[in-house]
Amino acid sequence: APTADEIREVVAPLISLEGPLLPMLHRVQEVWGHVPQEAVPVLADILNLGKAEVHGVISFYHDFRDHPAGRQVLKICRAEACQSMGGAGVAAETLARLGVDWHGTTADGAVTVEPVYCLGICACAPAAMIGDRVIGRATAERLAREVRA
Ligand code: FES
Repeated sequence: APTADEIREVVAPLISLEGPLLPMLHRVQEVWGHVPQEAVPVLADILNLGKAEVHGVISFYHDFRDHPAGRQVLKICRAEACQSMGGAGVAAETLARLGVDWHGTTADGAVTVEPVYCLGICACAPAAMIGDRVIGRATAERLAREVRA
């Protein structure tokens, strides 16, 4: 885990922005892959906010993770075209097969599942993405197999 000084150093250049909390959280996540617990008191201190406030923002925005992501990130499209092609069922079954909920990571740390809203391949709905590979006509069987491969 990063030290308070390391976190300070990373976010210091953003201090003069208007509304610096979100950019700082993004920056921390960019550097460490998630927003470690250690960042909360540091940001609260720098920005003169309560720790609960910083915490609230981290949990409100699903973009931020407070734990490291799995080795692979599986994104399943939840937007309309995919929904109309059975996307909700594919998502539910995939989550069940992996034993996680949205934003969850499998116990072995292999996979994190995130929702995404349109991957731009609606014609091949339902769509998903593993890492930066887009998958069309996704089935739960295929998604669960490919993230385990
Ligand atoms: Fe799913 Fe566009 S709605 S890819």
